[in-house]
Amino acid sequence: MDSSKPAEAVKNAVKTASGKIADALTPEVPGAPGSAPPTVEEPTTPHDPLPPKPEQGAPQTRTPTGAETGAPATANGQQGAYLTTAQGARLRDTDHSLKAGPRGPVLLQDHHLREKITHFDHERIPERVVHARGAGAHGVFTAYGTAEAVTRAGFLMKGRETEVFVRFSTVLGSRGSADTVRDTRGFATKFYTDEGTFDLVGNNMPVFFIQDAIKFPDIIHAGKPHPDREIPQAQSAHDTFWDFVSLHTEAQHHTIWNMSDRGIPRSYRTMEGFGVHTFRLVNEAGETVLAKFHWKPKLGVHSLTWEEAQLLGGMDPDFHRRDLYDAIEAGAYPEWELGIQVFPDTPEETFAGIDLLDPTKIVPEELAEVQPIGRLVLNRTPTNFFAETEQVAFHLGHLPPGIDVTNDPLLQGRLFSYVDTQLTRLGGPNFSQIPINRPHAAVNDMLRDGFHQHAVHAGVAPYRPNSLDGGNPFPAGDAEHAFVDVPVGVAQAPKVRANPTSFDDHYSQVRLFWLSMSPVEKEHIIRAYTFELGKCYHQAIKERQLQSLANIDPVLCEQVATGLGLPAPQPTVPLADVTPSPALSQVGGEWPSDGRTVGIVVDPDGDLDGVDEVRRAVFEAGMVPLLIAPHGGMVADLPVQRTFATGRSVEFDAVLLAGAPAPAPDAVPARDDKAGRAGAAAVDPRVLLLVEECWRHAKAIGAWGAGGTVLEQAGVAGTPGVVTASSGAEALTAVQQLMAAHRVWERFPASVA
Ligand code: HEM
Repeated sequence: MDSSKPAEAVKNAVKTASGKIADALTPEVPGAPGSAPPTVEEPTTPHDPLPPKPEQGAPQTRTPTGAETGAPATANGQQGAYLTTAQGARLRDTDHSLKAGPRGPVLLQDHHLREKITHFDHERIPERVVHARGAGAHGVFTAYGTAEAVTRAGFLMKGRETEVFVRFSTVLGSRGSADTVRDTRGFATKFYTDEGTFDLVGNNMPVFFIQDAIKFPDIIHAGKPHPDREIPQAQSAHDTFWDFVSLHTEAQHHTIWNMSDRGIPRSYRTMEGFGVHTFRLVNEAGETVLAKFHWKPKLGVHSLTWEEAQLLGGMDPDFHRRDLYDAIEAGAYPEWELGIQVFPDTPEETFAGIDLLDPTKIVPEELAEVQPIGRLVLNRTPTNFFAETEQVAFHLGHLPPGIDVTNDPLLQGRLFSYVDTQLTRLGGPNFSQIPINRPHAAVNDMLRDGFHQHAVHAGVAPYRPNSLDGGNPFPAGDAEHAFVDVPVGVAQAPKVRANPTSFDDHYSQVRLFWLSMSPVEKEHIIRAYTFELGKCYHQAIKERQLQSLANIDPVLCEQVATGLGLPAPQPTVPLADVTPSPALSQVGGEWPSDGRTVGIVVDPDGDLDGVDEVRRAVFEAGMVPLLIAPHGGMVADLPVQRTFATGRSVEFDAVLLAGAPAPAPDAVPARDDKAGRAGAAAVDPRVLLLVEECWRHAKAIGAWGAGGTVLEQAGVAGTPGVVTASSGAEALTAVQQLMAAHRVWERFPASVA
């Protein structure tokens, strides 16, 4: 066997074993593990490790001090055809301990047994104290050059391409928690610039709960599960969270973002990202501006419905990471534009009366436009989750020349916290030498030794100045792109534990957010508050939070109070007179449908040619078709991805009905509780449930031929966003147009204005 092409070799073996690889498998739906289909028989002919899947990437093979090695990325992985010890000695057997006779005892001298078990015993490292659950991807950032006037950062010069690694995350849940919980999402980007790594460690919400980092342990203790029973996992619907945010009312702004649809994103690909803090940019001339970073998703901001999030939490807790990886594998590369809001760097550090150092405040886009400065494309999934996504270490202090921090007290505390926690999480001070963290710029620091030192430092004088190493390393200046600590003045002031008085306004921007929402978004917010507070045990906490809602808006407060069965209090502060910011609403635009999922219900006795045509058309439109049939395997020449028993509406952005399949043999309630109405209808009850759920979740539904019967039986024919077409192509076109608005919003007229 030609071991230089192992994937081909395995594919050939499959062909020999099964006679053919079904041509129908191409184009392939994403998600299959491994880079080649496995054989039924155990492979025994030695060959090199299979290559990664085509869409997988790995950190560049840089040295620990940033030099290119020229080795392929796979050089970081396992090598050769044979099983070895960690020292490279080839092994004959890894299934039997070395024993004194077949009946033992096991011998202590079995170095392979001890090495294998010892390493296994130490496979786990502490999860992140926050943002433990995440998913990462590699990509490239291309600068437009539009920021050249305000920053000297080289990676923002026109046309410059920079490799990046992005990690998305939830905040509260443990590593194994569900993706679709209501929570803030992390959006952390590592730019491997040639002037040093830049980490933009942001969230999908532009504000934060607290104004001072000293409260960070407190808000996280309140949001994490209760310390006695360790429940609930990965959610804010519990007493300690609401106790905190109703006592620290500065948290109300971030809280309303969490209660809005932003708290349950449809996909990482449909989230905005925000640097939150105000940064200080400095250009070649030494001039400074203040700036906020924004990521704008190409696909628009799109969220799950609450019920979808609940169902997904059970049936696919990995929904967001699967969506990210499937989209990349399908070639629908997630894209964002990076933008900046720019403000004059005045001594007051305010803009339009808004304190730019207060991380609980936004500057509405209508007041300061977000100017696009570059484009991010994620085009590679990680080869190894642990090595890349788990070991990546972000830090706000990773800044290139041209970008500097401000005195935002939340930002200042973060500058300390990240490295400090990583010392424990990654087991010592040398984690910047782990492949995913290695800079793509030459490193010549004077840091030495420590656990897991990968560099082999030469010389005898890691101090400055020195003469023994010829003076190396030398300080750099402007010409050598040295980092710029902007010499900002520090006010003469007493040493105090206090905030500026401008930080005392806790409600005006919460009201601004509420008034900027469309009616359907307001409905969702009311429902979220009612659910979360309804899950609290203590009435005092509900009453206290209702007081905050009264200070935001009387309608919001009354509606939530009604749901809780409590009286709505009067406001204790004057309601702010604010101008809504339409940019905050995620309803009303039209966006591309790249990488979205279309379920196609197949009736084996129906129009299978039509199904094949539509399936190919969905691929060509840059989306992913999933065929849903009565049974697995193949229907004629068509590969089935979901059955009526395994599929669920929440996996699909839209559904097409190519027929009206009669109840399948397994549509028996005893075997499948989705089949509860078995026998009651001419159509399989699981198909009816699928259609009803899609309808309830305001998704586009299309049918042609006998598919119209399903719409009739489900009672949705002729309602908004439900299309009966004369062919599959026509149904797909109509459904794709509906998907542009993300959902069929008019299906549920809102009761609040
Ligand atoms: C604007 C406010 C904040 C934002 C946007 C933010 C964002 C993030 C993100 C995205 C991560 C995950 C990074 C990853 O994917 O590995 C993270 C982790 C973390 N954050 Fe924050 N955070 C904020 C405030 C804070 C504050 C105030 C502190 C502490 C004072 C803090 C401490 C941490 C720690 C300890 C981690 C875990 C880091 C690790 O283990 O590598 N964060 N944060």
